[in-house]
Amino acid sequence: MSGLAGKRALVLGGSRGIGAAIVRRLAADGATVAFTYAGSAAAAEALARETGSTAAQTDSADRDAVIARVRDSGPLDILVVNAGVAVLGDAREIAPDDVDRLIDVNVRQPYHAAVEAAKQMPNGGRIIVIGSVNGDRMPFAGGAAYALSKSALQGMARGLARDFGPQEITVNIVQPGPVDTDMNPADGPMKDVMHSFMAIKRHGRPEEIAGMVAYLAGPEAGYITGAMHTIDGGFGA
Ligand SMILES: NC(=O)c1ccc[n+]([C@@H]2O[C@H](COP(=O)([O-])OP(=O)(O)OC[C@H]3O[C@@H](n4cnc5c(N)ncnc54)[C@H](OP(=O)(O)O)[C@@H]3O)[C@@H](O)[C@H]2O)c1
Repeated sequence: MSGLAGKRALVLGGSRGIGAAIVRRLAADGATVAFTYAGSAAAAEALARETGSTAAQTDSADRDAVIARVRDSGPLDILVVNAGVAVLGDAREIAPDDVDRLIDVNVRQPYHAAVEAAKQMPNGGRIIVIGSVNGDRMPFAGGAAYALSKSALQGMARGLARDFGPQEITVNIVQPGPVDTDMNPADGPMKDVMHSFMAIKRHGRPEEIAGMVAYLAGPEAGYITGAMHTIDGGFGA
């Protein structure tokens, strides 16, 4: 496939899980891909070798490092912000610093990365952020901070779509339901509860999310912006 031939893409948080599937898919579709990681240097190096992409360590909790990474990447046709963390548990027991770090990664990172990318992005560029169906629906206890962070992305996308619309730069949120990764293993302790909410009672595969990202990055999606794209097996139905 070569639908993204000649396109330059940066994936923030691409070493594992959904991000790694996105790196593989964008590279397979012909894009020149760079990605970041935080702690998984070995996985990042292996993925870079496998896909012909380039990996760089950048902590997505560090605002200035994120801005510098995006700026130093030069003009991007495609920015995917995938890096995200989950902090789950009784809100009364979670340490405030853990909530603030989650907000740094899940909210501040995508905002500053998107704005920085748009400064150099050519007309028709694509900004895609991985949100969550929990931005729309939080059907169990213990997910308030995570849901807060993912619903914040919705307002961000609506607003930035307006700011960047004159350049036909699109801003979209992909909202997965449960996906089989280290963050949420298909055989994890929450699986039965999660599947009970779903029309299709299984975890998604990272490749299924990457397929939606590739579509939004591709030539047919230039009229889609300021929108949430839920891919959740009917979790929120
Ligand atoms: N899995 C699900 O069920 C699910 C559902 C809905 C939404 N999501 C969202 O999808 C995205 C990816 O989730 P996942 O399940 O693939 O998670 P994962 O398996 O935990 O992988 C997270 C990825 O993000 C990177 N990352 C995390 N913190 C980072 C930081 N501070 N700086 C740079 N990179 C960082 C990790 O890099 P290192 O390996 O280097 O640490 C890794 O590549 C997240 O935004 C998550 O909220 C996931």
